[in-house]
Amino acid sequence: MSQPAVARSAKALRAATAPWRKKNQKIALVPTMGALHAGHIKLVRAAGRKADRTIVSIFVNPAQFGPKEDLTRYPRTWREDLEKLTAEKIDLIYAPTVREMYPEGFATKVTLEGPALGLETDFRPHFFAGVATVVAKLLAAALPDYAMFGEKDYQQLQVVKQMVSDLNLPVEIVPVPTVRERDGLALSSRNAYLSVAERAAAPTLHRVLQETAASIRKGAPVGPTLVRGRRTIKAAGFKLDYLEARHASNLAPITSRKDGPIRLLVAARIGGTRLIDNMAI
Ligand code: PAJ
Repeated sequence: MSQPAVARSAKALRAATAPWRKKNQKIALVPTMGALHAGHIKLVRAAGRKADRTIVSIFVNPAQFGPKEDLTRYPRTWREDLEKLTAEKIDLIYAPTVREMYPEGFATKVTLEGPALGLETDFRPHFFAGVATVVAKLLAAALPDYAMFGEKDYQQLQVVKQMVSDLNLPVEIVPVPTVRERDGLALSSRNAYLSVAERAAAPTLHRVLQETAASIRKGAPVGPTLVRGRRTIKAAGFKLDYLEARHASNLAPITSRKDGPIRLLVAARIGGTRLIDNMAI
């Protein structure tokens, strides 16, 4: 099987994609930080169904890691990633260097309010500015018709949708449902950090989301149901960052089902690993 071509610069990416655009072929972009797992592959396959050409970007984006976060320890598995993408028959990998993305003198940052307020931002204040800036750059470089984002990172998905709408970027953001292990744990590159005991406790997050969603669907009041869920997560050995109910599209805080469609969102740390998950009600 032949490996997909690799573009290392925006210029090379443009040169590779220009002939596709000329032929009016639809292009889908799948932005990733590599360390690809079945969740990423689901996005790649969804891209393949939507578009004539699929580009996967692999870039561990320093701008979205805080000074005390896991940038240096973040898994980098280029050879395995390349093998997986070769099997998926994608058209192009965009893997720029940090220097290419952020040359000397780089001075622009996309910041957002609205869906970026609270939740992740309370614990990772620079995260969404880093994500939004790199996603804007990836979209501008690849000029895709579609860009695929996982519901696993639900706040990120809403932040990207908001940015694309606010900046009139001509791309459709396509959400893809979360891929899980059999016991409910959402696939994540960070699951590789978990010890055996932590891995055994990790599905608690999904279980609490399910139980909380079921209770609220049956008419239980939102506030006290969340309090119970938080207690269960802490009892399983997590340090809880948040378990909250938000409006499903603008992520505004809500107190009752009448306030609109609800999304439950959770972030918690176990050992040195931070896990996030979410669920529709
Ligand atoms: P990364 O964590 O590599 O995730 C890339 C994409 O895969 C994201 O859209 C994410 O939501 C999706 N994804 C991850 N785990 C998933 C799962 N279990 N099921 C379905 N989709 C899943 O998210 C990022 O990278 C970065 O922030 C990025 C958008 C690339 C910007 O740097």
